[in-house]
Amino acid sequence: MDKFVIKGGKKLSGTVEVSGAKNSALALMPATLLNSGKNIINNTPEVSDIYTMIKLLNHLGVATNFCDHNLMLDTSHIINQIAPYEHVKKMRASIYVLGPLLARYGYAKVSMPGGCAWGPRPINLHLEAMKKLGAEIQLEEGYITAKSKKLQGTKLHFDISSVGATGNALMAASLAKGTTLITNASIEPEITLLAEFIKSMGAKISGIGSTTLEIEGVDELYPSNIENIADRIEAGTLLTAAAITRSKINLEYKNLEHIKSILSKLEDSGVILSYNNKLIQIDATKCSSKNVDIATSVYPGFPTDMQAQWTSYMSLANGISTITDSVYHDRFNHVPELNRLGANIEIINNSAVVKGVQSLAGAKVMSTDLRASASLVLAGLAATGTTEVLRVYHLDRGYQRIEEKLRALGADIERVSTSEF
Ligand code: EPZ
Repeated sequence: MDKFVIKGGKKLSGTVEVSGAKNSALALMPATLLNSGKNIINNTPEVSDIYTMIKLLNHLGVATNFCDHNLMLDTSHIINQIAPYEHVKKMRASIYVLGPLLARYGYAKVSMPGGCAWGPRPINLHLEAMKKLGAEIQLEEGYITAKSKKLQGTKLHFDISSVGATGNALMAASLAKGTTLITNASIEPEITLLAEFIKSMGAKISGIGSTTLEIEGVDELYPSNIENIADRIEAGTLLTAAAITRSKINLEYKNLEHIKSILSKLEDSGVILSYNNKLIQIDATKCSSKNVDIATSVYPGFPTDMQAQWTSYMSLANGISTITDSVYHDRFNHVPELNRLGANIEIINNSAVVKGVQSLAGAKVMSTDLRASASLVLAGLAATGTTEVLRVYHLDRGYQRIEEKLRALGADIERVSTSEF
């Protein structure tokens, strides 16, 4: 078990690059189950969730080779269509194998997902979509069993915009008989890239990047390669690290479109941003740290995956800010830990009301989930004294050696192995 030991108060400087996006890779990888052959996903981040998905796909018979961020997946010899509990319990995104297995083999048996620590994370939208495409779904002994001789194109409307359910429906529909129309589809960049990847395999998809996707099913899809996008949440997290420490850094990141909401809120808080076609420069050295309210929403709104990090930043802002999570109403496990560092945050329904304080004081804090742990690291960078962030295995799920990136920018942060739990 590792922890981070952070001596706070250091200014950051220099240039840092952003790794490939975890959440898009986690959709692109199971999509290769739709075809038979060698696929390559470039710019795949070396984070533990990727290895968890690799192990699950290996269990299904996918041969993989992961070297220097290039991930090869050979789907020529799938040996079974069962995603067992011991794999699925580690990561909710394992549910992404349901659609492609059902579409290609007419059968899938997938353990109900476990995953995140906060609140229930239902999969009803995934299952309803599979049923509407003609699958027979049974839930027994903690497993979802889906069967269908041949999926039939249909009209799917998502009452709630869901990244995962859109991804599963898109993959299933690509090999269905006939045309499927998906309305209120997720338009997260991860889904847009997934659609482009499946299209490059031979799928017939129109409306990519919009909330209405039309998929004309085909009989077969073929292996393909794709360049993964950079991680918009890591980009936002690193920019917020500069903001909370009142630093000036350069971020090697070019998908400005993907982080417009984050950039806008950072500017509202008083940082100065400048851009060229490869770099974002953030200058928070004279930042007035204005309190800025946010309400998370689906893309292109402010992402829920940045809510915890923003809460950390606002804990040192001037004034009171309200941070509402409209996507996950109880995604606030980081708040009690931030208050242990001296923050003054109260949770009211699905909002955190943050009264800015002059300073945070280092302490031992506990990670509870991926983005909560990121928020604690940010707070530790700004706190006086030493902060120890325990259970950084949560952080390793979605950030590639972030302590090395932060240390290269001048932070005093060490990864230390510990028997503390
Ligand atoms: C994806 O999860 C991301 N994970 C999450 O990132 C992210 O927080 C989330 O989208 C929202 O942006 C991956 O891409 C691997 P959803 P997903 O289905 O697909 C409700 C991180 O930190 N819902 O868009 O599971 C759900 O409860 C992770 O990197 C249903 O009600 O999210 C939520 O309120 C955490 N029924 C809302 O929809 C369903 O069947 C959005 O969830 C599915 C979802």
